[in-house]
Amino acid sequence: MSVDLQSLEKIPRHVALIMDGNGRWAQERGLSRIEGHKEGAQSVRAVLRAAAQAGVEFITVYAFSTENWKRPPAEVEGLMKLLVHSLNEYEQELHENKIRLRVMGQFERLPLPVRMRLQKTIDATADYTDHTLVIALSYGSRTELADATKAIAEKVKSGEMKVKEINEETIANHLYLPDVPDPELMIRTSGELRLSNFLLWQLSYSEFYITDTYWPDFREEQFFHALEAFNGRDRRYGGVKKV
Ligand code: IPE
Ligand code: IPE
Ligand code: MG
Repeated sequence: MSVDLQSLEKIPRHVALIMDGNGRWAQERGLSRIEGHKEGAQSVRAVLRAAAQAGVEFITVYAFSTENWKRPPAEVEGLMKLLVHSLNEYEQELHENKIRLRVMGQFERLPLPVRMRLQKTIDATADYTDHTLVIALSYGSRTELADATKAIAEKVKSGEMKVKEINEETIANHLYLPDVPDPELMIRTSGELRLSNFLLWQLSYSEFYITDTYWPDFREEQFFHALEAFNGRDRRYGGVKKV
Protein backbone atom coordinates (compact mmCIF):
# COMPACT_ATOMS: atom_id res chain seq x y z
CA MET A 1 0.00 0.00 0.00
CA SER A 2 1.41 3.38 -0.88
CA VAL A 3 1.81 6.08 1.74
CA ASP A 4 -0.11 9.36 1.53
CA LEU A 5 2.57 11.88 2.47
CA GLN A 6 -0.02 14.63 2.95
CA SER A 7 -1.58 12.66 5.78
CA LEU A 8 1.61 12.63 7.86
CA GLU A 9 1.47 15.18 10.66
CA LYS A 10 5.13 15.14 11.56
CA ILE A 11 8.07 14.72 9.26
CA PRO A 12 11.52 14.29 10.81
CA ARG A 13 14.02 17.03 10.01
CA HIS A 14 16.89 14.56 10.04
CA VAL A 15 16.87 10.86 9.18
CA ALA A 16 19.97 8.70 9.73
CA LEU A 17 20.34 5.37 7.92
CA ILE A 18 22.47 2.30 8.54
CA MET A 19 22.62 0.90 5.03
CA ASP A 20 23.06 -2.81 5.70
CA GLY A 21 22.57 -6.03 3.76
CA ASN A 22 24.31 -5.33 0.45
CA GLY A 23 26.42 -8.48 0.79
CA ARG A 24 23.48 -10.76 1.56
CA TRP A 25 21.43 -9.22 -1.24
CA ALA A 26 24.23 -10.08 -3.67
CA GLN A 27 24.83 -13.53 -2.23
CA GLU A 28 21.19 -14.48 -2.66
CA ARG A 29 21.52 -13.64 -6.34
CA GLY A 30 24.87 -15.37 -6.86
CA LEU A 31 26.54 -12.00 -7.43
CA SER A 32 29.73 -10.56 -5.96
CA ARG A 33 29.49 -8.40 -2.83
CA ILE A 34 30.54 -5.36 -4.80
CA GLU A 35 27.54 -5.84 -7.10
CA GLY A 36 25.43 -5.53 -3.95
CA HIS A 37 27.18 -2.30 -3.02
CA LYS A 38 26.56 -0.95 -6.55
CA GLU A 39 22.86 -1.63 -6.30
CA GLY A 40 22.95 -0.10 -2.82
CA ALA A 41 24.29 3.14 -4.29
CA GLN A 42 21.07 3.40 -6.30
CA SER A 43 19.12 3.20 -3.05
CA VAL A 44 20.97 6.26 -1.75
CA ARG A 45 19.72 8.17 -4.79
CA ALA A 46 16.19 6.90 -4.25
CA VAL A 47 16.21 7.88 -0.57
CA LEU A 48 17.51 11.35 -1.42
CA ARG A 49 14.69 11.85 -3.90
CA ALA A 50 12.12 10.58 -1.41
CA ALA A 51 13.52 12.76 1.39
CA ALA A 52 13.32 15.86 -0.80
CA GLN A 53 9.74 14.98 -1.72
CA ALA A 54 8.73 14.49 1.91
CA GLY A 55 10.52 17.61 3.15
CA VAL A 56 13.27 15.91 5.17
CA GLU A 57 16.16 18.35 5.45
CA PHE A 58 19.08 16.16 6.53
CA ILE A 59 19.96 12.63 5.50
CA THR A 60 22.94 10.88 7.08
CA VAL A 61 24.04 7.60 5.56
CA TYR A 62 26.48 5.22 7.23
CA ALA A 63 28.62 4.22 4.27
CA PHE A 64 31.81 2.93 5.90
CA SER A 65 32.60 2.37 9.56
CA THR A 66 35.95 2.46 11.35
CA GLU A 67 35.44 -1.31 11.75
CA ASN A 68 34.87 -1.81 8.00
CA TRP A 69 38.63 -1.33 7.39
CA LYS A 70 38.87 -4.96 8.61
CA ARG A 71 37.16 -6.20 5.43
CA PRO A 72 39.21 -7.85 2.66
CA PRO A 73 41.35 -5.20 0.84
CA ALA A 74 39.58 -5.90 -2.46
CA GLU A 75 36.19 -5.06 -0.95
CA VAL A 76 37.53 -1.90 0.75
CA GLU A 77 39.09 -0.82 -2.55
CA GLY A 78 35.88 -1.63 -4.41
CA LEU A 79 33.86 0.51 -1.99
CA MET A 80 36.26 3.47 -2.33
CA LYS A 81 36.13 3.21 -6.14
CA LEU A 82 32.36 3.00 -6.05
CA LEU A 83 32.22 6.16 -3.97
CA VAL A 84 34.27 8.09 -6.54
CA HIS A 85 32.23 6.61 -9.40
CA SER A 86 28.95 7.53 -7.70
CA LEU A 87 30.08 11.11 -7.16
CA ASN A 88 31.01 11.38 -10.84
CA GLU A 89 27.65 9.96 -11.86
CA TYR A 90 25.36 11.83 -9.49
CA GLU A 91 26.97 15.14 -8.65
CA GLN A 92 24.65 16.76 -11.18
CA GLU A 93 21.64 15.51 -9.23
CA LEU A 94 22.98 17.12 -6.07
CA HIS A 95 23.06 20.43 -7.91
CA GLU A 96 19.63 19.98 -9.46
CA ASN A 97 18.10 19.33 -6.04
CA LYS A 98 20.30 21.82 -4.16
CA ILE A 99 21.73 19.19 -1.85
CA ARG A 100 24.80 20.06 0.16
CA LEU A 101 27.31 17.22 0.62
CA ARG A 102 29.11 16.83 3.92
CA VAL A 103 31.34 14.06 5.22
CA MET A 104 31.73 12.85 8.78
CA GLY A 105 34.52 10.60 10.05
CA GLN A 106 38.28 10.12 9.78
CA PHE A 107 38.67 12.01 6.50
CA GLU A 108 42.49 11.81 6.55
CA ARG A 109 42.33 8.01 6.65
CA LEU A 110 40.66 7.84 3.22
CA PRO A 111 42.84 7.36 0.12
CA LEU A 112 44.01 10.68 -1.36
CA PRO A 113 42.07 10.41 -4.67
CA VAL A 114 38.89 9.73 -2.70
CA ARG A 115 39.50 12.73 -0.45
CA MET A 116 40.17 14.96 -3.44
CA ARG A 117 37.04 13.82 -5.24
CA LEU A 118 34.91 14.30 -2.14
CA GLN A 119 36.37 17.74 -1.43
CA LYS A 120 35.50 18.89 -4.95
CA THR A 121 31.80 18.11 -4.43
CA ILE A 122 31.80 19.35 -0.83
CA ASP A 123 33.11 22.72 -2.06
CA ALA A 124 30.81 22.84 -5.10
CA THR A 125 27.68 22.27 -3.00
CA ALA A 126 28.71 24.22 0.13
CA ASP A 127 26.27 27.07 -0.43
CA TYR A 128 23.10 24.94 -0.67
CA THR A 129 20.84 25.23 2.34
CA ASP A 130 17.67 23.33 1.30
CA HIS A 131 18.96 19.80 1.86
CA THR A 132 22.07 18.15 3.28
CA LEU A 133 23.50 14.72 2.61
CA VAL A 134 25.97 13.61 5.26
CA ILE A 135 28.08 10.58 4.36
CA ALA A 136 29.59 8.85 7.39
CA LEU A 137 32.91 7.55 6.10
CA SER A 138 35.51 5.81 8.21
CA TYR A 139 33.11 6.86 10.93
CA GLY A 140 32.95 5.43 14.43
CA SER A 141 31.01 7.03 17.22
CA ARG A 142 33.49 6.00 19.91
CA THR A 143 36.35 7.63 17.98
CA GLU A 144 34.20 10.73 17.51
CA LEU A 145 33.59 10.92 21.28
CA ALA A 146 37.27 10.31 22.02
CA ASP A 147 38.22 13.11 19.58
CA ALA A 148 35.71 15.44 21.24
CA THR A 149 37.13 14.59 24.67
CA LYS A 150 40.66 15.37 23.47
CA ALA A 151 39.58 18.73 22.03
CA ILE A 152 37.82 19.67 25.29
CA ALA A 153 40.82 18.56 27.38
CA GLU A 154 43.10 20.77 25.27
CA LYS A 155 40.85 23.76 25.93
CA VAL A 156 40.91 23.10 29.67
CA LYS A 157 44.69 22.72 29.56
CA SER A 158 45.13 26.03 27.78
CA GLY A 159 42.79 27.79 30.20
CA GLU A 160 40.17 28.52 27.52
CA MET A 161 37.59 26.45 29.42
CA LYS A 162 36.99 25.45 33.03
CA VAL A 163 36.16 21.86 34.08
CA LYS A 164 32.99 23.01 35.82
CA GLU A 165 31.79 24.59 32.57
CA ILE A 166 31.67 21.23 30.77
CA ASN A 167 28.09 20.14 30.13
CA GLU A 168 26.08 18.22 27.51
CA GLU A 169 26.22 21.15 25.13
CA THR A 170 30.03 21.25 25.36
CA ILE A 171 30.22 17.65 24.20
CA ALA A 172 27.64 18.15 21.43
CA ASN A 173 29.60 21.20 20.23
CA HIS A 174 32.80 19.18 19.86
CA LEU A 175 31.38 16.37 17.73
CA TYR A 176 32.26 16.22 14.00
CA LEU A 177 29.22 18.20 12.75
CA PRO A 178 27.98 20.27 15.69
CA ASP A 179 25.63 22.33 13.57
CA VAL A 180 23.64 19.32 12.31
CA PRO A 181 20.57 18.59 14.50
CA ASP A 182 20.21 15.13 16.09
CA PRO A 183 18.31 12.65 13.90
CA GLU A 184 14.70 12.14 14.97
CA LEU A 185 14.59 8.84 13.10
CA MET A 186 17.19 6.12 12.59
CA ILE A 187 16.57 3.42 10.00
CA ARG A 188 18.52 0.17 9.79
CA THR A 189 17.98 -2.25 6.96
CA SER A 190 18.54 -6.02 6.84
CA GLY A 191 17.09 -6.73 10.26
CA GLU A 192 20.15 -6.39 12.50
CA LEU A 193 19.26 -5.08 15.96
CA ARG A 194 22.38 -3.08 16.77
CA LEU A 195 23.97 0.33 16.33
CA SER A 196 27.39 -0.86 15.09
CA ASN A 197 29.11 2.23 16.52
CA PHE A 198 26.81 4.73 14.78
CA LEU A 199 25.95 8.13 16.35
CA LEU A 200 25.81 6.89 19.96
CA TRP A 201 25.41 10.40 21.36
CA GLN A 202 23.16 11.83 18.65
CA LEU A 203 20.67 8.93 18.68
CA SER A 204 19.97 9.15 22.44
CA TYR A 205 16.30 10.01 21.88
CA SER A 206 15.77 9.03 18.25
CA GLU A 207 13.06 6.66 17.11
CA PHE A 208 14.39 3.41 15.59
CA TYR A 209 12.91 1.75 12.53
CA ILE A 210 14.37 -1.65 11.70
CA THR A 211 13.31 -3.41 8.54
CA ASP A 212 14.27 -6.86 7.20
CA THR A 213 14.56 -5.37 3.69
CA TYR A 214 18.14 -5.43 2.39
CA TRP A 215 19.55 -2.01 1.57
CA PRO A 216 19.56 -2.49 -2.26
CA ASP A 217 15.78 -3.10 -2.04
CA PHE A 218 15.15 -0.07 0.16
CA ARG A 219 13.77 2.60 -2.17
CA GLU A 220 11.25 5.51 -2.12
CA GLU A 221 8.26 3.45 -1.00
CA GLN A 222 10.19 1.79 1.84
CA PHE A 223 11.43 5.19 3.01
CA PHE A 224 7.87 6.54 3.04
CA HIS A 225 6.79 3.55 5.14
CA ALA A 226 9.47 4.41 7.68
CA LEU A 227 8.15 8.00 7.79
CA GLU A 228 4.65 6.65 8.33
CA ALA A 229 5.85 4.51 11.24
CA PHE A 230 7.62 7.55 12.72
CA ASN A 231 4.43 9.56 12.41
CA GLY A 232 2.67 7.02 14.62
CA ARG A 233 5.28 7.06 17.39
CA ASP A 234 4.59 8.72 20.71
CA ARG A 235 7.82 10.51 21.73
CA ARG A 236 7.79 11.08 25.49
CA TYR A 237 11.46 11.96 26.29
CA GLY A 238 11.12 10.48 29.75
CA GLY A 239 7.93 12.41 30.49
CA VAL A 240 4.35 11.17 30.64
CA LYS A 241 1.96 10.76 27.75
CA LYS A 242 0.02 13.93 26.94
CA VAL A 243 -3.76 13.44 26.97
C1 IPE B 1 26.39 -2.63 4.07
O1 IPE B 1 26.23 -3.90 3.56
C2 IPE B 1 27.47 -1.84 3.38
C3 IPE B 1 28.68 -1.61 4.20
C4 IPE B 1 28.84 -1.93 5.44
C5 IPE B 1 29.80 -0.97 3.52
P1 IPE B 1 27.14 -5.10 4.06
O2 IPE B 1 28.35 -5.16 3.17
O3 IPE B 1 27.44 -5.00 5.50
O4 IPE B 1 26.20 -6.33 3.76
P2 IPE B 1 26.01 -7.63 4.63
O5 IPE B 1 25.69 -7.19 6.04
O6 IPE B 1 27.29 -8.39 4.56
O7 IPE B 1 24.86 -8.34 4.00
C1 IPE C 1 27.33 -1.14 9.71
O1 IPE C 1 27.18 -2.28 8.97
C2 IPE C 1 28.24 -0.17 9.01
C3 IPE C 1 27.71 0.41 7.76
C4 IPE C 1 26.51 0.25 7.31
C5 IPE C 1 28.62 1.24 7.04
P1 IPE C 1 28.11 -3.56 9.23
O2 IPE C 1 27.62 -4.62 8.34
O3 IPE C 1 29.54 -3.18 9.12
O4 IPE C 1 27.81 -3.86 10.77
P2 IPE C 1 27.87 -5.22 11.58
O5 IPE C 1 29.20 -5.84 11.29
O6 IPE C 1 26.74 -6.06 11.12
O7 IPE C 1 27.71 -4.79 13.00
MG1 MG D 1 26.52 -5.71 7.17
